[in-house]
Amino acid sequence: MFSAATPRASNDQPVPRHVAIVMDGNGRWAKRRFMPRGMGHKAGVDSLVKVVQAAADRGIGYLTVFAFSSENWKRPEEEVSGLMSLLIVALSKHLTKLESDGVQIRVVGDLTTVSSKVRQALLDACEATAHNDRLVLTVAFNYGGRWDMVQACQRIVADGVPADQVTEATVSRYMAMNYAPDPDLFIRTGGEVRLSNFLLWQSAYAELVFTDCLWPDFDGAELDKALAAYWQRERRFGDVGQDEPPEAGLAVNTSGN
Ligand code: FPP
Repeated sequence: MFSAATPRASNDQPVPRHVAIVMDGNGRWAKRRFMPRGMGHKAGVDSLVKVVQAAADRGIGYLTVFAFSSENWKRPEEEVSGLMSLLIVALSKHLTKLESDGVQIRVVGDLTTVSSKVRQALLDACEATAHNDRLVLTVAFNYGGRWDMVQACQRIVADGVPADQVTEATVSRYMAMNYAPDPDLFIRTGGEVRLSNFLLWQSAYAELVFTDCLWPDFDGAELDKALAAYWQRERRFGDVGQDEPPEAGLAVNTSGN
């Protein structure tokens, strides 16, 4: 199931190659402290920086975080512009360290509708870290799983791929994250139990872990809890488990009668 090259944790369990996170709960974290929501997002950035380091230390190769969804534009204008400014500040504050820590930053999402300042900050960060290979941090920005599927379909059609040649592999190649394996582990913080349009195609077989921990409180220890939950799961990818007895009906049929 896991290739020989899969890194193993100290408990000899396979480390997920790709972890995707919906970083939810910033607003509630701030509210509980009688702070404006923006302070929660600011604390969320600090949390993200810690978790990137923790993920790299544990041998996770790909970490993908939902920083701004296609639906987040519906938030009050002040919060949206605050998130945009925070992104620019966060990149300028943390880029040097991320770069020297071997983190490669990539971005997925519709950048055509974000401001040129934000777009440029993201693209500059990608360019500055393109040579790194310790951990690929993908920032999903103005991203939605449905958007991703639509853009893939549009490009398949634009490339003139004949309908009967469109396979699952074709679609995967046109998805925004075609450079990464599908997520093995999908974590959502903040207590909600839904996917919220994140990596819908890619997470078909991801193990889902939902935690009440609010994102600004999430750290390496919380990541370890999610990994422990992941290791409890038996990943079958639609097959039967190795120790699974044959289904009763099939066992009867093998008699040849
Ligand atoms: C959800 O919390 C979080 C977001 C919409 C943004 C996540 C962003 C960060 C962690 C910061 C890094 C990203 C950028 C853009 C700099 P919420 O506000 O929905 O929390 P709530 O559910 O408690 O209200």
